[in-house]
Amino acid sequence: ATQRVGGRVSAAPIVSRVSRRSLRCEARKVALLGAAGGIGQPLALLLKMNKFATELALYDIANVVGVAADLSHCNTPVEVTAYTGPEELGACLKGADLVVIPAGVPRKPGMTRDDLFNTNAGIVQALIQAVGKHCPQAVIEIITNPVNSTVPIAAETLKSMGVYDPKKLIGVTSLDIVRANTFVSKEKGLDMKDTDVPVIGGHAGATILPLLSQTTPPTSFTDAEKKAMTEKIQNAGTVVVEAKAGKGSATLSMAYAAARMAESTLLGLNGEPNIYECAFVQSDVVAEVPFFASKVLLGPHGVAKVMGLGELDAFEQAALASMLPQLKAEIQKGLDFVKNPP
Ligand code: NAD
Ligand code: LMR
Repeated sequence: ATQRVGGRVSAAPIVSRVSRRSLRCEARKVALLGAAGGIGQPLALLLKMNKFATELALYDIANVVGVAADLSHCNTPVEVTAYTGPEELGACLKGADLVVIPAGVPRKPGMTRDDLFNTNAGIVQALIQAVGKHCPQAVIEIITNPVNSTVPIAAETLKSMGVYDPKKLIGVTSLDIVRANTFVSKEKGLDMKDTDVPVIGGHAGATILPLLSQTTPPTSFTDAEKKAMTEKIQNAGTVVVEAKAGKGSATLSMAYAAARMAESTLLGLNGEPNIYECAFVQSDVVAEVPFFASKVLLGPHGVAKVMGLGELDAFEQAALASMLPQLKAEIQKGLDFVKNPP
Protein backbone atom coordinates (compact mmCIF):
# COMPACT_ATOMS: atom_id res chain seq x y z
CA ALA A 1 0.00 0.00 0.00
CA THR A 2 1.21 3.52 -0.67
CA GLN A 3 1.74 5.79 2.32
CA ARG A 4 -0.25 9.00 2.29
CA VAL A 5 1.88 11.37 4.29
CA GLY A 6 2.42 14.76 5.80
CA GLY A 7 -0.23 17.22 4.73
CA ARG A 8 -0.65 15.59 1.32
CA VAL A 9 -0.93 18.65 -0.88
CA SER A 10 -1.74 16.48 -3.86
CA ALA A 11 -3.97 18.18 -6.38
CA ALA A 12 -5.47 14.82 -7.39
CA PRO A 13 -9.13 14.36 -6.40
CA ILE A 14 -9.27 12.57 -3.07
CA VAL A 15 -11.59 9.83 -4.36
CA SER A 16 -8.86 8.64 -6.72
CA ARG A 17 -6.44 8.15 -3.82
CA VAL A 18 -8.43 6.09 -1.34
CA SER A 19 -9.72 2.56 -1.30
CA ARG A 20 -13.37 1.84 -2.02
CA ARG A 21 -13.85 1.06 1.68
CA SER A 22 -13.73 4.77 2.60
CA LEU A 23 -16.34 5.62 0.04
CA ARG A 24 -18.84 3.64 2.09
CA CYS A 25 -21.15 6.22 3.61
CA GLU A 26 -20.49 6.34 7.37
CA ALA A 27 -22.52 8.97 9.24
CA ARG A 28 -19.90 11.44 10.45
CA LYS A 29 -20.74 14.61 12.36
CA VAL A 30 -18.11 17.36 12.38
CA ALA A 31 -18.49 20.27 14.83
CA LEU A 32 -16.61 23.49 14.02
CA LEU A 33 -16.15 25.91 16.94
CA GLY A 34 -15.33 29.47 15.86
CA ALA A 35 -17.09 28.85 12.54
CA ALA A 36 -17.88 32.50 11.73
CA GLY A 37 -14.25 33.61 11.84
CA GLY A 38 -11.50 34.14 9.29
CA ILE A 39 -10.51 30.46 9.35
CA GLY A 40 -13.95 29.18 10.32
CA GLN A 41 -15.79 30.37 7.20
CA PRO A 42 -13.52 28.95 4.48
CA LEU A 43 -12.97 25.82 6.58
CA ALA A 44 -16.74 25.38 6.84
CA LEU A 45 -16.95 25.63 3.04
CA LEU A 46 -14.24 22.99 2.58
CA LEU A 47 -15.93 20.71 5.12
CA LYS A 48 -19.26 21.18 3.30
CA MET A 49 -17.44 19.79 0.26
CA ASN A 50 -15.95 16.87 2.19
CA LYS A 51 -16.99 13.45 0.92
CA PHE A 52 -16.62 11.78 4.31
CA ALA A 53 -18.68 14.15 6.49
CA THR A 54 -22.46 13.87 6.68
CA GLU A 55 -23.28 16.63 9.20
CA LEU A 56 -21.53 19.94 9.84
CA ALA A 57 -22.47 21.71 13.08
CA LEU A 58 -21.26 25.32 13.12
CA TYR A 59 -20.78 27.13 16.43
CA ASP A 60 -19.72 30.66 17.25
CA ILE A 61 -20.58 33.36 19.75
CA ALA A 62 -22.09 35.49 16.92
CA ASN A 63 -22.82 35.67 13.17
CA VAL A 64 -22.99 31.94 12.56
CA VAL A 65 -26.65 31.67 11.50
CA GLY A 66 -25.93 33.61 8.31
CA VAL A 67 -22.83 31.57 7.54
CA ALA A 68 -24.86 28.35 7.86
CA ALA A 69 -27.76 29.70 5.73
CA ASP A 70 -25.32 30.71 3.01
CA LEU A 71 -23.44 27.40 3.08
CA SER A 72 -26.58 25.29 3.17
CA HIS A 73 -27.37 26.36 -0.41
CA CYS A 74 -24.32 24.52 -1.78
CA ASN A 75 -25.63 21.34 -3.39
CA THR A 76 -23.46 18.86 -1.50
CA PRO A 77 -25.04 16.26 0.81
CA VAL A 78 -23.50 17.53 4.09
CA GLU A 79 -26.27 18.81 6.43
CA VAL A 80 -25.36 22.21 7.92
CA THR A 81 -26.68 23.45 11.28
CA ALA A 82 -25.92 26.60 13.31
CA TYR A 83 -25.52 27.14 17.05
CA THR A 84 -24.93 30.49 18.74
CA GLY A 85 -23.62 31.07 22.27
CA PRO A 86 -22.80 28.77 25.19
CA GLU A 87 -26.42 27.71 25.76
CA GLU A 88 -26.46 26.07 22.29
CA LEU A 89 -22.97 24.56 22.47
CA GLY A 90 -24.11 21.23 23.94
CA ALA A 91 -26.52 20.59 21.07
CA CYS A 92 -23.79 21.46 18.58
CA LEU A 93 -21.42 18.91 20.12
CA LYS A 94 -23.83 16.08 20.82
CA GLY A 95 -22.91 13.04 18.69
CA ALA A 96 -19.88 14.72 17.07
CA ASP A 97 -17.16 12.39 15.76
CA LEU A 98 -14.72 15.23 15.12
CA VAL A 99 -14.51 18.67 16.76
CA VAL A 100 -12.34 21.28 15.04
CA ILE A 101 -11.49 24.42 17.04
CA PRO A 102 -10.29 27.65 15.41
CA ALA A 103 -12.08 29.86 18.02
CA GLY A 104 -10.01 32.67 19.49
CA VAL A 105 -8.12 35.82 18.60
CA PRO A 106 -5.39 36.00 15.93
CA ARG A 107 -2.08 37.87 16.03
CA LYS A 108 -1.47 41.46 14.97
CA PRO A 109 1.94 42.68 13.69
CA GLY A 110 4.56 42.71 16.44
CA MET A 111 2.90 39.97 18.49
CA THR A 112 4.15 36.44 19.16
CA ARG A 113 1.71 33.52 19.30
CA ASP A 114 2.36 33.37 23.04
CA ASP A 115 0.97 36.92 23.33
CA LEU A 116 -2.44 35.36 22.51
CA PHE A 117 -2.27 33.10 25.57
CA ASN A 118 -4.15 35.36 28.00
CA THR A 119 -7.20 35.58 25.75
CA ASN A 120 -7.21 32.20 24.07
CA ALA A 121 -6.36 29.95 27.03
CA GLY A 122 -9.71 30.58 28.69
CA ILE A 123 -11.63 30.26 25.39
CA VAL A 124 -10.08 26.85 24.69
CA GLN A 125 -10.56 25.67 28.27
CA ALA A 126 -14.28 26.53 28.23
CA LEU A 127 -14.87 24.91 24.84
CA ILE A 128 -12.99 21.76 25.89
CA GLN A 129 -15.04 21.52 29.08
CA ALA A 130 -18.12 21.39 26.86
CA VAL A 131 -16.51 18.79 24.58
CA GLY A 132 -15.61 16.67 27.63
CA LYS A 133 -19.22 16.89 28.80
CA HIS A 134 -21.14 16.43 25.53
CA CYS A 135 -18.93 14.35 23.20
CA PRO A 136 -15.98 12.91 25.16
CA GLN A 137 -15.54 10.23 22.48
CA ALA A 138 -14.84 12.75 19.69
CA VAL A 139 -11.47 13.41 18.10
CA ILE A 140 -10.51 17.03 18.89
CA GLU A 141 -8.36 19.17 16.57
CA ILE A 142 -7.08 22.43 18.03
CA ILE A 143 -6.06 25.23 15.68
CA THR A 144 -6.26 28.08 18.25
CA ASN A 145 -2.89 29.60 19.11
CA PRO A 146 -0.63 29.26 20.92
CA VAL A 147 -0.97 25.58 19.92
CA ASN A 148 2.09 24.65 22.03
CA SER A 149 0.05 25.70 25.10
CA THR A 150 -3.61 25.24 24.08
CA VAL A 151 -3.18 21.49 23.48
CA PRO A 152 -1.74 20.94 27.00
CA ILE A 153 -4.62 23.07 28.36
CA ALA A 154 -7.09 20.79 26.60
CA ALA A 155 -5.34 17.64 27.83
CA GLU A 156 -5.29 18.82 31.44
CA THR A 157 -8.92 19.99 31.26
CA LEU A 158 -10.09 16.62 29.92
CA LYS A 159 -7.93 14.84 32.54
CA SER A 160 -9.61 16.81 35.33
CA MET A 161 -12.97 15.60 33.96
CA GLY A 162 -11.76 11.98 33.78
CA VAL A 163 -12.27 11.77 30.00
CA TYR A 164 -8.80 12.36 28.53
CA ASP A 165 -7.83 10.05 25.69
CA PRO A 166 -4.45 11.11 24.22
CA LYS A 167 -5.28 9.35 20.95
CA LYS A 168 -8.13 11.83 20.44
CA LEU A 169 -6.40 15.15 21.08
CA ILE A 170 -4.53 16.68 18.14
CA GLY A 171 -2.84 20.06 17.75
CA VAL A 172 -3.10 21.13 14.12
CA THR A 173 0.34 21.88 12.65
CA SER A 174 -0.52 20.88 9.10
CA LEU A 175 -0.10 24.45 7.82
CA ASP A 176 3.63 24.10 8.53
CA ILE A 177 3.77 21.00 6.33
CA VAL A 178 1.69 22.67 3.59
CA ARG A 179 4.11 25.62 3.62
CA ALA A 180 7.20 23.42 3.70
CA ASN A 181 5.91 21.35 0.77
CA THR A 182 5.09 24.48 -1.24
CA PHE A 183 8.37 26.30 -0.60
CA VAL A 184 10.61 23.26 -1.10
CA SER A 185 8.87 22.05 -4.26
CA LYS A 186 9.18 25.55 -5.75
CA GLU A 187 12.82 26.04 -4.80
CA LYS A 188 13.90 22.58 -5.94
CA GLY A 189 11.67 22.32 -8.99
CA LEU A 190 9.83 19.27 -7.62
CA ASP A 191 6.32 18.21 -8.53
CA MET A 192 4.09 19.91 -5.93
CA LYS A 193 1.80 16.91 -5.59
CA ASP A 194 4.63 14.48 -4.78
CA THR A 195 6.60 16.67 -2.38
CA ASP A 196 6.48 15.82 1.31
CA VAL A 197 8.52 17.54 4.01
CA PRO A 198 7.88 16.37 7.59
CA VAL A 199 7.77 19.20 10.15
CA ILE A 200 8.29 18.31 13.81
CA GLY A 201 8.41 20.02 17.22
CA GLY A 202 5.69 22.58 17.84
CA HIS A 203 3.94 25.51 16.20
CA ALA A 204 5.77 28.71 17.13
CA GLY A 205 9.04 30.22 15.91
CA ALA A 206 12.05 27.97 16.43
CA THR A 207 9.86 25.08 17.66
CA ILE A 208 8.72 24.63 14.03
CA LEU A 209 11.41 22.29 12.69
CA PRO A 210 11.19 21.08 9.08
CA LEU A 211 13.17 17.90 8.42
CA LEU A 212 14.55 18.93 5.05
CA SER A 213 16.90 15.92 5.08
CA GLN A 214 13.79 13.70 4.95
CA THR A 215 12.19 15.46 1.97
CA THR A 216 10.38 13.19 -0.47
CA PRO A 217 11.48 12.92 -3.25
CA PRO A 218 15.06 13.08 -1.92
CA THR A 219 16.74 16.41 -2.63
CA SER A 220 19.82 18.13 -1.25
CA PHE A 221 20.38 21.53 0.32
CA THR A 222 23.63 23.38 0.94
CA ASP A 223 24.12 24.49 4.55
CA ALA A 224 23.12 28.05 3.59
CA GLU A 225 20.02 26.85 1.73
CA LYS A 226 19.01 24.64 4.66
CA LYS A 227 19.24 27.53 7.12
CA ALA A 228 17.36 29.94 4.85
CA MET A 229 14.59 27.42 4.03
CA THR A 230 14.14 26.47 7.70
CA GLU A 231 13.79 30.13 8.67
CA LYS A 232 11.40 30.81 5.80
CA ILE A 233 9.09 28.01 7.00
CA GLN A 234 9.36 29.12 10.64
CA ASN A 235 8.61 32.74 9.74
CA ALA A 236 5.80 32.14 7.23
CA GLY A 237 2.99 32.86 9.70
CA THR A 238 4.58 36.19 10.63
CA VAL A 239 4.94 37.13 6.95
CA VAL A 240 1.16 36.71 6.55
CA VAL A 241 0.43 38.65 9.77
CA GLU A 242 2.57 41.54 8.50
CA ALA A 243 1.07 41.45 5.00
CA LYS A 244 -2.45 41.58 6.48
CA ALA A 245 -1.29 44.60 8.49
CA GLY A 246 -3.57 44.29 11.51
CA LYS A 247 -6.42 42.40 9.84
CA GLY A 248 -5.47 38.99 11.24
CA SER A 249 -3.27 36.05 10.32
CA ALA A 250 -3.37 33.15 7.87
CA THR A 251 -6.95 32.08 7.25
CA LEU A 252 -7.26 30.61 3.73
CA SER A 253 -4.11 28.49 3.79
CA MET A 254 -5.00 27.46 7.35
CA ALA A 255 -8.50 26.44 6.28
CA TYR A 256 -6.95 24.40 3.45
CA ALA A 257 -4.48 22.72 5.81
CA ALA A 258 -7.15 22.02 8.46
CA ALA A 259 -9.52 20.61 5.85
CA ARG A 260 -6.84 18.16 4.76
CA MET A 261 -6.20 17.21 8.39
CA ALA A 262 -9.94 16.71 9.00
CA GLU A 263 -10.26 14.64 5.85
CA SER A 264 -7.35 12.41 6.88
CA THR A 265 -8.88 12.03 10.34
CA LEU A 266 -12.24 10.99 8.89
CA LEU A 267 -10.50 8.53 6.58
CA GLY A 268 -8.71 7.05 9.60
CA LEU A 269 -12.00 6.82 11.53
CA ASN A 270 -13.48 4.98 8.52
CA GLY A 271 -10.71 2.39 8.72
CA GLU A 272 -8.72 3.56 5.69
CA PRO A 273 -5.16 2.23 6.16
CA ASN A 274 -1.86 4.14 5.87
CA ILE A 275 -3.11 7.63 6.66
CA TYR A 276 -0.17 9.66 7.99
CA GLU A 277 -0.04 13.33 8.98
CA CYS A 278 2.30 15.43 11.12
CA ALA A 279 0.52 16.68 14.25
CA PHE A 280 1.22 17.96 17.79
CA VAL A 281 0.17 15.19 20.16
CA GLN A 282 1.00 13.59 23.48
CA SER A 283 4.23 11.86 22.68
CA ASP A 284 7.26 10.16 24.14
CA VAL A 285 9.47 10.43 21.07
CA VAL A 286 11.51 13.22 22.73
CA ALA A 287 12.09 12.51 26.42
CA GLU A 288 12.23 16.17 27.52
CA VAL A 289 8.67 17.12 26.47
CA PRO A 290 5.26 15.41 26.93
CA PHE A 291 3.79 16.82 23.69
CA PHE A 292 5.57 16.94 20.36
CA ALA A 293 4.69 17.24 16.68
CA SER A 294 5.78 14.38 14.47
CA LYS A 295 4.32 12.07 11.90
CA VAL A 296 1.37 10.08 13.27
CA LEU A 297 -0.68 7.22 11.87
CA LEU A 298 -4.41 7.98 11.97
CA GLY A 299 -6.84 5.15 12.60
CA PRO A 300 -10.36 4.20 13.71
CA HIS A 301 -9.82 5.75 17.18
CA GLY A 302 -7.81 8.84 16.24
CA VAL A 303 -4.02 8.64 16.58
CA ALA A 304 -3.17 4.96 16.12
CA LYS A 305 0.59 5.41 16.42
CA VAL A 306 3.07 8.22 17.03
CA MET A 307 5.94 7.59 14.64
CA GLY A 308 9.60 8.10 15.50
CA LEU A 309 11.60 10.98 14.05
CA GLY A 310 13.80 8.98 11.69
CA GLU A 311 17.37 10.12 11.17
CA LEU A 312 18.11 13.82 11.75
CA ASP A 313 21.16 15.47 10.21
CA ALA A 314 23.56 17.55 12.32
CA PHE A 315 21.73 20.83 11.54
CA GLU A 316 18.36 19.35 12.56
CA GLN A 317 19.80 17.76 15.71
CA ALA A 318 21.25 21.11 16.82
CA ALA A 319 18.00 22.95 15.99
CA LEU A 320 16.00 20.38 17.97
CA ALA A 321 18.26 20.69 21.00
CA SER A 322 18.13 24.47 21.00
CA MET A 323 14.32 24.77 20.63
CA LEU A 324 13.40 22.27 23.36
CA PRO A 325 13.57 24.75 26.28
CA GLN A 326 11.05 27.04 24.51
CA LEU A 327 8.72 24.17 23.69
CA LYS A 328 8.98 22.78 27.21
CA ALA A 329 8.17 26.17 28.77
CA GLU A 330 5.17 26.78 26.48
CA ILE A 331 3.78 23.31 27.25
CA GLN A 332 4.29 23.87 30.98
CA LYS A 333 2.52 27.24 30.78
CA GLY A 334 -0.54 25.46 29.37
CA LEU A 335 -0.46 22.70 31.98
CA ASP A 336 -0.07 25.24 34.80
CA PHE A 337 -3.02 27.30 33.55
CA VAL A 338 -5.30 24.38 34.44
CA LYS A 339 -3.39 22.77 37.34
CA ASN A 340 -2.41 25.96 39.20
CA PRO A 341 -4.81 28.62 37.88
CA PRO A 342 -3.41 32.17 38.00
P1 NAD B 1 -10.93 35.37 13.76
O1 NAD B 1 -10.91 36.42 14.81
O2 NAD B 1 -11.16 35.76 12.35
O3 NAD B 1 -12.04 34.27 14.12
C1 NAD B 1 -12.12 33.72 15.38
C2 NAD B 1 -13.56 33.34 15.62
O4 NAD B 1 -13.63 32.76 16.94
C3 NAD B 1 -14.55 34.53 15.60
O5 NAD B 1 -15.63 34.24 14.76
C4 NAD B 1 -14.99 34.65 17.04
O6 NAD B 1 -16.34 35.10 17.19
C5 NAD B 1 -14.83 33.23 17.52
N1 NAD B 1 -14.77 33.10 18.97
C6 NAD B 1 -14.17 33.89 19.88
N2 NAD B 1 -14.40 33.44 21.11
C7 NAD B 1 -15.16 32.33 20.98
C8 NAD B 1 -15.74 31.42 21.90
N3 NAD B 1 -15.58 31.55 23.21
N4 NAD B 1 -16.47 30.40 21.40
C9 NAD B 1 -16.63 30.26 20.07
N5 NAD B 1 -16.12 31.08 19.17
C10 NAD B 1 -15.40 32.11 19.62
O7 NAD B 1 -9.55 34.53 13.90
P2 NAD B 1 -8.95 33.46 12.88
O8 NAD B 1 -8.11 34.15 11.88
O9 NAD B 1 -10.03 32.57 12.43
O10 NAD B 1 -7.93 32.67 13.86
C11 NAD B 1 -8.42 31.88 14.90
C12 NAD B 1 -7.28 31.27 15.70
O11 NAD B 1 -6.52 30.35 14.89
C13 NAD B 1 -6.26 32.27 16.24
O12 NAD B 1 -5.91 31.94 17.56
C14 NAD B 1 -5.05 32.08 15.32
O13 NAD B 1 -3.86 32.45 15.94
C15 NAD B 1 -5.13 30.60 15.08
N6 NAD B 1 -4.37 30.10 13.92
C16 NAD B 1 -3.71 28.93 14.06
C17 NAD B 1 -3.01 28.40 12.99
C18 NAD B 1 -2.31 27.08 13.13
O14 NAD B 1 -1.47 26.75 12.29
N7 NAD B 1 -2.60 26.26 14.12
C19 NAD B 1 -2.99 29.07 11.77
C20 NAD B 1 -3.70 30.27 11.65
C21 NAD B 1 -4.38 30.79 12.75
C1 LMR C 1 0.34 30.67 11.26
O1 LMR C 1 1.34 29.96 11.34
O2 LMR C 1 0.03 31.28 10.21
C2 LMR C 1 -0.57 30.80 12.46
O3 LMR C 1 0.00 30.22 13.59
C3 LMR C 1 -1.03 32.20 12.70
C4 LMR C 1 0.06 33.11 13.18
O4 LMR C 1 -0.15 33.81 14.17
O5 LMR C 1 1.14 33.15 12.57
